[in-house]
Amino acid sequence: MTDLHLSLDRSAGRLAAQIAAGFRAAVRSGRLTAGTRLPSSRDLARDLDVSRGVVVTAYEQLTAEGFLIARRGDGTRIAPLARPDEGSGPPPSRPRPRPAERPAEPLVLYDLTPGQPDLSAFPRERWISAARAALRTLPHDALGYPDPAGVPDLRAELASYLGRVRAAHADPGRIVIMNGVAQGLSGLLGQLRADGHTALAVEDPTSVRQLPMLAAAGVRLVRVPVDEEGVDVAALARTQARAVLVTPAHQYPTGVVLSPARRAALIAWARDVDGVILEDDYDAEFRYDRDPVGCLQGVDPDRVVLLGSVSKSLAPALRLGWALAPSFLAEGLREHRTNTDLGAPVLEQYALTEFLRGGGYDRHLRTMRRRYRARRDALAGALAENLPGARVHGVSAGIHLYVELPGGCDEDEVVERAARAGVSVAGARAMWSPRRAEEAPPALVLGYAGLSEPRLVKAAQLLGHAVAHGDGG
Ligand SMILES: Cc1ncc(COP(=O)(O)O)c(C=O)c1O
Repeated sequence: MTDLHLSLDRSAGRLAAQIAAGFRAAVRSGRLTAGTRLPSSRDLARDLDVSRGVVVTAYEQLTAEGFLIARRGDGTRIAPLARPDEGSGPPPSRPRPRPAERPAEPLVLYDLTPGQPDLSAFPRERWISAARAALRTLPHDALGYPDPAGVPDLRAELASYLGRVRAAHADPGRIVIMNGVAQGLSGLLGQLRADGHTALAVEDPTSVRQLPMLAAAGVRLVRVPVDEEGVDVAALARTQARAVLVTPAHQYPTGVVLSPARRAALIAWARDVDGVILEDDYDAEFRYDRDPVGCLQGVDPDRVVLLGSVSKSLAPALRLGWALAPSFLAEGLREHRTNTDLGAPVLEQYALTEFLRGGGYDRHLRTMRRRYRARRDALAGALAENLPGARVHGVSAGIHLYVELPGGCDEDEVVERAARAGVSVAGARAMWSPRRAEEAPPALVLGYAGLSEPRLVKAAQLLGHAVAHGDGG
């Protein structure tokens, strides 16, 4: 139920009470405004995969409390009541607009925005067991300031995992634990700049979330086109950059897997210009048609930095990642942590160590791979049926699809119409450089990790309506 922005914990029971609490919170925060029409109890029950009686009970409770108004022929709407949190507690520091003055935000029933795994699948019990086992056995000394590069046990486990699963050339001494790929990148860019790099080549299109962070590192960003084989190495060679950030296992966002010829050309380029390749391995665990292709770092460990994290495999909230780097860069990253934050939280590092050591991580990945494959199949099949003119890319790996819309579609309009129908999706245009965005076909990037198959099918039907200028119903 995360895509309704309400949290439904099935193991906790009292589903009607949970649904009611979620709606109350949405009204209080102003996310649902007076007059907003709610889905019928039948539709909502189907969307949330609960019995209709559960939703009816929740609606009745909220109606009795004055949150909802139900009128025959007009469905159920949010009542025009003052927000319950107004008037209680200290006055807000700034006057807030009255609910009636806010534009009503559409309810997100199907959240296909990319970038997150299925958060409801986080292995809470097994993570608790790993954390408990770690705490039970940790010597007191381990609770002091850690090695800024990360606790040695975790680096050893990761080296073994990355060697086995990603064919990395993994030496624990070259691993530095970072708060995700993001922190690894900003630490590396600071160093590259200090070493005389003035430019960083970045794929075009790329992740918009990363762009401001890269720009903040003070290097000039040079965009290099991606085609059906991945990053265009000949175009890269025509730039002044000697450092490049790439996503070879599953290009973000197009989903292209870097071809063998381009992999070889990229390594040759790095050797030729005495350059560095930053390999963002953000979702490489999920490859469906074959075993994952080994990482580039395994081919040239002295020129490639492998950056990974548990953000897509477990949860972004853990903020746990790693950089496997040539010795001089690994040493620099260690220094970076020494000079900025003295290292990553220790208990989480030991919990992950236990999780890797006990086989929990491998087991979780096997389960998620099966689940995501089924979801990918459901979404790809439903898109073929409901958006027959669209071209779907990136199906072989990852947890999102890149969907080129039929010619003549207006991407912004499709995104907006989809949102009005309750389907939240990302348009691709912002991911392209302004110059290439003009030529790029309209496209959507659809994250499918968090929705069940029936819900993905329904979302694809609604998207089909949005693309066909329908009313989304
Ligand atoms: C392509 C890509 N790589 C990496 C990241 C950051 O991942 P992490 O959570 O490991 O910092 C993002 C975040 O949006 C991303 O889009």
